[in-house]
Amino acid sequence: MEDKLFSYGTVDNEIIKLLNDAIGANNVSRDDEKLETYSHDEVPSSTYDRPYKAEVLVFPESTEHVSSIIKIASTKHIPVTPRGAGTGLSGGALPAYGGIVMSFEKMNKILELDKDNLTITVEPGVVTAEISRLAAANNLLYAGDPCSGDASFIGGNIAENAGGNKVIKYGATSAQILALEVVLADGSVTWFGGKRRKDVTGLDFVHLLSGSEGILAVVTKAVLKLLPLPRYSVDILAAFKDVESAIAFVPRIITEASMVPASIEFLDRKAMKLAEDYLHTKVPAGEAGAALIIQLEDNEQEQIEKQYETIGKLSQEHGAYEVYIADTRSTKDRIWQARKSVPEAVSFFYSRYTKEDFVVPTNRVPDLLKLMRDTCGGHSLEWVAYGHVGDGNMHCTVFGPETDDWHDVLVQVQHEMYPKILELGGTLSGEHGIGFKRKSYMKYFLDKEQIELIKRVKLAFDPLNILNPGKLIDWE
Ligand code: LAC
Ligand code: ZN
Repeated sequence: MEDKLFSYGTVDNEIIKLLNDAIGANNVSRDDEKLETYSHDEVPSSTYDRPYKAEVLVFPESTEHVSSIIKIASTKHIPVTPRGAGTGLSGGALPAYGGIVMSFEKMNKILELDKDNLTITVEPGVVTAEISRLAAANNLLYAGDPCSGDASFIGGNIAENAGGNKVIKYGATSAQILALEVVLADGSVTWFGGKRRKDVTGLDFVHLLSGSEGILAVVTKAVLKLLPLPRYSVDILAAFKDVESAIAFVPRIITEASMVPASIEFLDRKAMKLAEDYLHTKVPAGEAGAALIIQLEDNEQEQIEKQYETIGKLSQEHGAYEVYIADTRSTKDRIWQARKSVPEAVSFFYSRYTKEDFVVPTNRVPDLLKLMRDTCGGHSLEWVAYGHVGDGNMHCTVFGPETDDWHDVLVQVQHEMYPKILELGGTLSGEHGIGFKRKSYMKYFLDKEQIELIKRVKLAFDPLNILNPGKLIDWE
């Protein structure tokens, strides 16, 4: 049965004609250079055993287009890989079985901002930062805040349940979704959820779909939650002499200061150095052993001043030797540019690396870093740590040597490291997803029963296995 699920038709001239007739030839492309570009995301191809390539690209302009494409794919048994802006970090948009890559770049409209119901309705190809900007222009907050927000599409954020910098206070992307319009694997269209803050009528398909990496259905519209925009915010950058003291301070922020900041981010010294080299500028506390970025928000200026004084004092009591307060646009930008540039700097300076996305209970972060040190040390590999330490979600990145055996070394390091991550009470990915990159390691984190259940859910939604096949779990 599994063989049949993965033996697909090829995209021949008949299928191209059907696609052209359905969505217009201007929305269909077989240009070789484009096929190449649209056949990967931000995961370097050196991570994989071989290159993967789409047979045709489609650029739907409407839900009707998406539905027609899926009907053709379903009739002809052709795989369909939905694609956002290509900023993914797990190979989720990689066409693992060729076929159709469906780019959402032409479905890029914000359809409605409903101030009475505090919602915004968008198409999947809207850049996430545009949603935040429109909300802010109306004194509202869209709380989803992935680091790639200036480039990523909201559709990709939904597919991966993207996290980002404000999860500790507001939750990840799934916490912002009220409703989804989706095209199912047979091409039919339905809505899950609605403009409702509560809903127990039926199963919670909205949150099943969020983070399902495009294997269950294709999202064509989303209704997202908005909140009042906090009037004031400050970013505190606290410099510590070493990683241990920075991390030991994290739980104190919440327990001793009784505050839930909007962000608690972490940069080790190498991360700061990468940011400095990439941005050609000095990062405040760039010489520190480690730094925390703590973002506070409030509606009253006096309150926020009290809050940052409390955090500043407390951080010094817990070993911070310098505390920078950023309360202007330019000082805040300086801090956040440094933080957000780290993954870009990694891709810029290195060609062989793996950006990991571990989550551990927050009190196990020191053990996680020790594990990285030991594992990388054992293979003489360099590494860097940064990320959302308030969520226990660290983007430990391992750098590979420029040698041909990198793929094998990487596989060995991952097999060595992942079972130990589980022992720490941790998991494989907090926000980047499993996709193609991590699927063969799921067996370390989910038992057989859960993997079987995922397969059954997949086949209940997509019995012909045409939606983003080859992702999330290994069927072998
Ligand atoms: C970040 C991305 C890599 O947090 O998730 O920078
Ligand atoms: Zn992140």
